[in-house]
Amino acid sequence: DSNRMWGGRFAGGPAEIMERINASIDFDRRLYAEDIEGSLAHAAMLVRQGIIRQEDGAAIKAGLEQIRGEIEAGTFTFSRALEDIHMNVEARLKEIIGAPAGRLHTARSRNDQVATDFRLWVRRAIDGLEAGLKDLTAALLDLAEPHAGTIMPGYTHLQPAQPVTFGHHLMAYVEMIQRDRGRLADARRRMNENPLGAAALAGTSFPIDRDQTAKALGFDRPMANSLDAVSDRDYALEYLAAGSILAVHLSRLAEEIVLWTSDGFRFVRLSDAFSTGSSIMPQKRNPDAAELVRGKAGRVIGALQSLLIMMKGLPLTYGKDMQEDKEPTFEATDSLALCVAAMAGMVRDMTPDPAAMARATKNGHLTATDLADGLVRVLGLPFREAHEITGRIVRLADEQGKALWDLPLKALQSVEPRITPELQKVLSVENSVASRTSVGGTAPETVRRAIAQARARYL
Ligand code: ARG
Repeated sequence: DSNRMWGGRFAGGPAEIMERINASIDFDRRLYAEDIEGSLAHAAMLVRQGIIRQEDGAAIKAGLEQIRGEIEAGTFTFSRALEDIHMNVEARLKEIIGAPAGRLHTARSRNDQVATDFRLWVRRAIDGLEAGLKDLTAALLDLAEPHAGTIMPGYTHLQPAQPVTFGHHLMAYVEMIQRDRGRLADARRRMNENPLGAAALAGTSFPIDRDQTAKALGFDRPMANSLDAVSDRDYALEYLAAGSILAVHLSRLAEEIVLWTSDGFRFVRLSDAFSTGSSIMPQKRNPDAAELVRGKAGRVIGALQSLLIMMKGLPLTYGKDMQEDKEPTFEATDSLALCVAAMAGMVRDMTPDPAAMARATKNGHLTATDLADGLVRVLGLPFREAHEITGRIVRLADEQGKALWDLPLKALQSVEPRITPELQKVLSVENSVASRTSVGGTAPETVRRAIAQARARYL
């Protein structure tokens, strides 16, 4: 038989495959709390506006609260024939309270209902992510602090470039994460308007009060245009865009953890708690959590693409295509929550190996730039000439199989006679790092100050 919610004009029921393609209950049941929250706010407003009677409002409220309890207790029976969470809840409400249930949908459509539910859901997802990101920030700061002066090679092109400190490197991610938090907060602020009351698309002739429902649901104000309210999903897109950038940041850190724990680096060690073994090679310790953070970034980026492509050709206002907004958003949210928590766990778990980092600074003539800079500062050479001279000294060091700072002064002077013992000192990695005191630079003192400022601002 036909659907009880909209079956009036139908003689026959839907084909089995129609029901299957149409039903969203298998995933949109995740909106149950928001759906009930929205309905409670709507019903209370209908009562206050004299649109439905007080007794009916009270019955609706009690019924909705009972349904919330049933869903949370796992005793609620979801039905695919009832399509979605909205109609599952309303049908059960009718079972519980009878005829007054039919008054809940006055001055409302599933179009503004789902827009409201989903906004509330995305807003909550952002709040959850914000809490996780704050925790990750704390974990990164706690690891950075004792390593503000731990010297490691900095890379460009994954080739040894200049010495930096491990604390400075971690603080780069702290900054990225704060911009992610900022983007999510921006998206949250912009999305925090109330679609409820737009009804199907054109508004309603009932004397509703959209400010009331906005206030009850924690929205800043009603959305200004009813067509816009039911037909845009830009709030989900913004959330997924910010989430995708976050996922990319997490993925890059994850990739670095994979590198750092690899045999070629050995900069950090993950404990047994964050390592996995191999079913064939007994000696293995694999950084699976980091690889999964890297891997799951694809899902989040994919969710953004799915939603963008789903929306791009839709005429105003609502189209059923938009029901496809939920699964990718849910999945991306689950992945992000998992990745943020796993990353905080790994950061708290890892043991850096300063000796291994120090050994790595011996390769790659990391302080060549310091010598070139010194030639400019002490001898007044143009930088290009200093670069050329230093390059010749690097070649000499390579020919002798030595690090730049192990060349005797005489060898340096064979290329540039004016090099003094004082100038030679710039070649030590400690001096190099200590000299980088420019704002945002890697000098340990500067890094310590950056960490203190970050603690005050970000936690
Ligand atoms: N299940 C639908 C969705 O998720 C709810 C809105 C349905 N509206 C409609 N006019 N069929 O988008």
